[in-house]
Amino acid sequence: MVSQGCSGCLDRQVHRKVGLNLLGLIRPVKLADSVSFLRLEARCFGMRYNRNSLYYWRPILDYCWAYKAVQEETIVGGVIAMPTRQGLVYINSLFVDPRVRGLGIGSRLLEKVLGISAPGFILDVKSGKRYLIEMYQRHGFKVVRRERNYYLDGSERIIMRR
Ligand SMILES: CC(C)(COP(=O)(O)OP(=O)(O)OC[C@H]1O[C@@H](n2cnc3c(N)ncnc32)[C@H](O)[C@@H]1OP(=O)(O)O)[C@@H](O)C(=O)NCCC(=O)NCCS
Repeated sequence: MVSQGCSGCLDRQVHRKVGLNLLGLIRPVKLADSVSFLRLEARCFGMRYNRNSLYYWRPILDYCWAYKAVQEETIVGGVIAMPTRQGLVYINSLFVDPRVRGLGIGSRLLEKVLGISAPGFILDVKSGKRYLIEMYQRHGFKVVRRERNYYLDGSERIIMRR
């Protein structure tokens, strides 16, 4: 079972350390993980999971970089990255189960992908999530472009590169 997260904890730093110790491993995603991995991803982004997600994403999980964070045999987070035509690595998705956020799992997943040997990494962030931009900046990313009205709700797409 996944622990019930850290909401309301008094000392976030202490809790974060505990979380890091409890965190099992960051491992490559296997075919058998596809459904639970993609279901969690959809939930983290407030999207619906359906068979099309599986049809479209399963080959990507197989042929690109996909890592899962596992805690007590349960997938609690993941990251998906893929090569671009320019030879960079595009970090398409980074997500952590809301019950265990704030414990450093997202950063661990990001670091795993940043360990890939590549001349550079890119990713995009929806505007309005300042903490995400700051998180990526702490991992060496810089904002390289902004595209207005990119998303259906009119928000901006912020492209970052490292
Ligand atoms: C983004 C996400 C993966 C972070 O996962 P996480 O396990 O909570 O990340 P970490 O615990 O490693 O925290 C990373 C940093 O972000 C900060 N942070 C995370 N969530 C935050 C929040 N809601 N508000 C403010 N800061 C936040 C943390 O303080 C931490 O900073 P620090 O390293 O200086 O302590 C997770 O919040 C998530 O799944 N969000 C929904 C999906 C999403 O938006 N993904 C990113 C797409 S670009």
